[in-house]
Amino acid sequence: MCGIVGYKGKNNNAIKVVIEGLENLEYRGYDSAGIAYLKDNKIYIEKETGRIKNLKENLNLKEKTNLAIGHTRWATHGIPKKINAHPHQVGKFTIVHNGIIENYLSLKEELIKNNYTFKSDTDTEIACAYLDYIYKQEKDILKSLQKLIKIIKGSYAFGIICEDDKDNLYALRSSSPLIIALGKNENYIASDVPAILKYTNKYIILENYEIAKISNDNITIYNKELQEVNKTINTYEEKYESNTKGQYEHFMLKEINEEPDTFEKTINSCLQNNFKDINLKKYTNIHIVACGSAYHAGLVGKYLIEKFANIKVYTQVASEYRYEKTFYDKNTLVILISQSGETADTLAALRKAKDNKIDTLSIVNVFKSSIARESKYVVYTKAGSEIAVATTKAYLAQLTLLIALTLNLSKKTINKEQITKIKEQITNLIKKDDYKTIANKIYKAKNIFFIGRGIDYALCMEGSLKLKEISYINSVAYQAGELKHGTISLIEENTPVIAILTEEKLIEKTISNIKEVKARGAHTIVISNEEIKNDEYDEIIKIPKTDELLQQLLTIIPLQLIAYEVAKLKNCDIDKPRNLAKSVTVE
Ligand code: AGP
Repeated sequence: MCGIVGYKGKNNNAIKVVIEGLENLEYRGYDSAGIAYLKDNKIYIEKETGRIKNLKENLNLKEKTNLAIGHTRWATHGIPKKINAHPHQVGKFTIVHNGIIENYLSLKEELIKNNYTFKSDTDTEIACAYLDYIYKQEKDILKSLQKLIKIIKGSYAFGIICEDDKDNLYALRSSSPLIIALGKNENYIASDVPAILKYTNKYIILENYEIAKISNDNITIYNKELQEVNKTINTYEEKYESNTKGQYEHFMLKEINEEPDTFEKTINSCLQNNFKDINLKKYTNIHIVACGSAYHAGLVGKYLIEKFANIKVYTQVASEYRYEKTFYDKNTLVILISQSGETADTLAALRKAKDNKIDTLSIVNVFKSSIARESKYVVYTKAGSEIAVATTKAYLAQLTLLIALTLNLSKKTINKEQITKIKEQITNLIKKDDYKTIANKIYKAKNIFFIGRGIDYALCMEGSLKLKEISYINSVAYQAGELKHGTISLIEENTPVIAILTEEKLIEKTISNIKEVKARGAHTIVISNEEIKNDEYDEIIKIPKTDELLQQLLTIIPLQLIAYEVAKLKNCDIDKPRNLAKSVTVE
């Protein structure tokens, strides 16, 4: 997902603040970066492909500048190359953009008829040119932005500089995230608060189609009728240092080590709040909708809610859910799960439910993110800032919250001793050193399979995705009983097969599946909370046996750490895997 940072202020450190802000957004994933800044009354633009450090080589961070906008680009329209990097400048305007302009081709045709030419392959340059085109007619920046909102379709967060008004930075959004932050004699825009948390924790959330006009010491927000609107000033809870690796080699390892606290904070927060403002008892069927790891957490939630609360749960990935025929009734509750709260497909699924007058509950990690603000109900996970693109603690927090939801929907209870015990068991599992040994045996594999039955299969899905996304090894999660219906043909000598066995009534069945692959040369690795005879596998990671409702909080730890150790052996960019973005705010 692209990152945006902008600065307008008297302290004359625009370049430094913007570049540092972009570095704080690196975790979102990008392939190029750029900055536009005002110096000696002229707007300069620098951009480079690759990492921000490449861009910094062309800059003097000590340059006295009071206006700048910066961008990290995760390519959508146009390959990652310098000419496609932001900022883009056309005529009087220089802009940075996060999102997708859906009607960019029709706008481009109109612009070409009016003698505009284009240097890049991006929709952003077209949006910039169109703004310039409107401005030539309106001769007023706010009116031009108001007209732009009516004409362009799609998702956008824009940071805008206009040559005719160097005393102000402008911003507007629709769907893509953007906040306005308030500093001392300076103000900022950013894709999220952590980007500028070093300078301030006071921020305003820009709603869709609102326009911000930002000077050194004043912020004015207009609605699309150009009426000034009063906005709440929020305070961001996290401390700045949460964005540093501390003594850990990678953010991912740091965040795994934060999981015991994340579990405790999330479960205690839920038990105290107890979903108090939601009448959960009225719902007779539930849809759980999400993407990626959040969807995998939802699969676990399905098993738990159906088993312990006896309520039917339909799960679907958001990118399918938003287009498929969906069956609702007045007692349906749609649950959206999202760490970032900005995932475009999940947001679209939320809006589909709302359009059908269906109650929505979002499970979100980022405070007042779009999905949180647009849901009827929201319950927050307490994972704190998660910087590594591959989610670990936020996924565990999602599991925790789904466990708390199951407790509220069923007659099951847990007590303080169990919470303390689980926290201790997670801590001990993180400390085990089995994972390095196993990683050494499998990191050269071309394919790695995960098999399990029932809820174990849901964990296989997340274990497989974690391994794929950070080690780039092809992996697939399979229902253990399904492997023999075709895919077993891919098993060769030493193909690693990781089997999860915690579903007591299904263990014998899964053991027979392990034997099937072992007989065909697989290298079998078992993760189990049961005693398994040692001639039926090659390796085993024993995990503690606990209440069925809580077991998955332990099962996931070895899966995350095996993936981490494999990726480390392969010298992969663990915190910022290639092609990935922390939150996918485009469709
Ligand atoms: C990152 O590790 C995940 N693999 C990714 O799939 C993520 O879960 C997905 O993009 C959804 O993001 P969200 O939770 O912010 O909505």
